[in-house]
Amino acid sequence: MKPLMLLSLAAAIAASPCPYGQLAERGALPKTEADKFFAARAEGEAAIEKQMLKAREEKRAEHAAQEAYYKRQLNLGDLPLGGGLLGGVLQPFSGVLKGLGVPTPQPFGLKEIPGDDGLHPFQFPKTTDVRGMCPTLNTMANHGFISRTGITTFAEAANACQITLGFGYDTCVFLSALGLLAGGDLPSGKYSIGGADARVPNTLGPSLGISKHGFFEVDNSISRQDQNFGNQADFRLDRWNRLVDITKKYNGQFGNSAFAEERVTVYKEAKNANPKFTAGIRWLGVTTAERVFVFRALPNGTDPGNANFRNIAPFFLNETFPEEWFRRATPYTLAATGADIANLLASSSEITNPGQNQGLGNFVPLGLDLGNVSPTTATCFLASAIFDNTPGFLAPGLVTNYATVQAFLNGAVKPFFATYNCPVLDFAKPGPSAGDATPGVSAHSNILINGVYQ
Ligand code: HEM
Ligand SMILES: *[C@@H]1O[C@H](CO)[C@@H](O)[C@H](O)[C@H]1NC(C)=O
Ligand SMILES: *[C@@H]1O[C@H](CO)[C@@H](O)[C@H](O)[C@H]1NC(C)=O
Repeated sequence: MKPLMLLSLAAAIAASPCPYGQLAERGALPKTEADKFFAARAEGEAAIEKQMLKAREEKRAEHAAQEAYYKRQLNLGDLPLGGGLLGGVLQPFSGVLKGLGVPTPQPFGLKEIPGDDGLHPFQFPKTTDVRGMCPTLNTMANHGFISRTGITTFAEAANACQITLGFGYDTCVFLSALGLLAGGDLPSGKYSIGGADARVPNTLGPSLGISKHGFFEVDNSISRQDQNFGNQADFRLDRWNRLVDITKKYNGQFGNSAFAEERVTVYKEAKNANPKFTAGIRWLGVTTAERVFVFRALPNGTDPGNANFRNIAPFFLNETFPEEWFRRATPYTLAATGADIANLLASSSEITNPGQNQGLGNFVPLGLDLGNVSPTTATCFLASAIFDNTPGFLAPGLVTNYATVQAFLNGAVKPFFATYNCPVLDFAKPGPSAGDATPGVSAHSNILINGVYQ
């Protein structure tokens, strides 16, 4: 058994109120969990004991740091609408956000997904359901881990992200917060995983859907075209096939090397052909994160280094989990994401300067140097993607309710970045050109079989 698995098992034992071993002996644990327990016990209880103590100590230190940060936020008046992180859990919101449910930490560990609980079979979406450009959200919806309608919430999507993919609480809360702000209704936490939809309230302003261009949905996606050329939510078989061809040079692996090549290709292509190509701070965080996510989330958890077609393709082509698929064994954190992004950038054959085409042949660089990015700096790109708002891409509801947005971010997102000393952790006041009300779009058909819409 690998040390990391041992550690996650030890953490599970430490966290469990009832003795894990008794459960295993009674046959009350799922087989994979029980096997893991007995294997670990065979390796020697002393080793487990030691790992458990260490894990407990680390948790204690982490929670102490969180409490100190929480008190600081309270003293600074940073949490006017509640929230904040205590004991590893987001605290409830109040005031105008009192109806906003918060995500909760989920148990981690190797587990077969969807498994055989009978609650999560694949079902084709109905015509009234919406699907969008995130292959994993579409997959979660097709299996009922989030609402099959495609109308989800801040808490539901962040919980499903932990449950189905084994991503960390921090990473999942961050992603779902970005989704909510991109196109949802902040007070209820509801958002559409595709375009604007009448089932999402418009309490603060129009809810435009997470595919609203420029906030979370950006240019240079893997399998979706730039918004300038048409529907940005639709799966594009041509883009996918090009990626598959690239992976063939790398042992059929959808890994760091393949994406280092592919991302430079799509960058150069868009810079030459898309007069509105925008590679801003959100582009930087999103296009790098979504690529490392592929090889950190989608491989079989039993064989995490193997990002092969068998494991990756079902998510993109059929929006379903591969058969007999296990989620990753350990939570994937914001810190790990930053390290992977830094590595992806360092592996890319050319530096992809952030900036924007103001017409073809007129690329205006942002002046951000990607030549030597550290893991922490890369984690801070993610913080910038949510805190550093670029005027023009903000929905009107965020512009006019700027203080509410800031209170939400302070309460739900800022604490997760507390340890990285990021330069930007305050939501900048929107500029005069903010307030773009262009709605996002959903996939034109929501049934995708083998990469072809039906
Ligand atoms: C609540 C959580 C999430 C939300 C709101 C969300 C939202 C989005 C959005 C808006 C995009 C479009 C980005 C673009 O324009 O390129 C996207 C793309 C993507 N997301 Fe998610 N996402 C979430 C969780 C995840 C997780 C956990 C994974 C892990 C595998 C993931 C994997 C991807 C991938 C691979 C893409 C790129 C798709 C492509 O271009 O082919 N997402 N997501
Ligand atoms: C997608 O589903 C179709 C139809 O069930 C199946 O033939 C195909 O093998 C699947 N593709 C992948 C990559 O799983
Ligand atoms: C995942 O790993 C398990 C255990 O090794 C194996 O039985 C299963 O076929 C694998 N599934 C995929 C999709 O690779």
